[in-house]
Amino acid sequence: MSKHVTARRHTPRSLAALDAPIVALTAYTTPMARLMDPHCDLLLVGDSLGMVVYGMDSTLAVTPEMMIAHGQAVVRGSQNACVAIDLPFGSYQQSPQQAFAVSAEIMAKTGAGCVKLEGGVEMAETVHFLTQRGIPVIGHIGLKPQSVHTHGGFRTVGRGSEAEQVMQDAKAIEEAGAFSVLIESTMEPLAREISETLSVPTIGIGASPACGGQILVGEDMLGLFSDFTPRFVKRFAAIGEQVDKAVAEYAEAVRNRSFPGPEQCVGMLKKDS
Ligand code: KIV
Repeated sequence: MSKHVTARRHTPRSLAALDAPIVALTAYTTPMARLMDPHCDLLLVGDSLGMVVYGMDSTLAVTPEMMIAHGQAVVRGSQNACVAIDLPFGSYQQSPQQAFAVSAEIMAKTGAGCVKLEGGVEMAETVHFLTQRGIPVIGHIGLKPQSVHTHGGFRTVGRGSEAEQVMQDAKAIEEAGAFSVLIESTMEPLAREISETLSVPTIGIGASPACGGQILVGEDMLGLFSDFTPRFVKRFAAIGEQVDKAVAEYAEAVRNRSFPGPEQCVGMLKKDS
């Protein structure tokens, strides 16, 4: 198993200067962050936690308080990766000032290295406002799950005339000062072209191998979340099946009274065999 542990935690600046693809995963808890951190350059506390951890059917009801609690857990569980935290729906779109207030609170209370926000041309002014005031930003373009209702579902973006808009979004977010641009569920040739056009690294999810890095939802790639599996997910493990097997064995052991045994009890008299 190769481990990539740096002396200091990655920063937005060191990520942008990496000469290898950025390895990123989402993480929401301390134990998962501990397992992922030695291998990852970036851990994202994604608002996907609303769906993956809380069973919501979209990310829209996630709150800054939830992001702060999970952000603190992930920062505690990591020492190598830069930790990014999503700005949740409704907490930043109203004005650059609103975005600054929520970003500053999230960063101060968690110790995260940067925030991520969804949006293109329409959010460029906000990205500029934040980056000018000490908040490093990852822009999120292509499929923007917080806009699921105006998008018309969780669909691949960038076919036909839509492609030009996504390219404009990428350029606007880079020009506004984002140090990286995440491209979600976008036609491969377009994601490739954006990655070749921008000078900041792109991070792809359902995008292109030409992106400057890749990200997946941790629970998806581990086979722990199967409510909704987009085409771009590759399962690198089937841990959900192992959990199912282990819990079934535990239930059987409780029911047949073979658990707990003498090894798990104090002072239990062993039966004569
Ligand atoms: O919230 C999330 O998990 C994301 C993914 C696109 C990585 O933003």
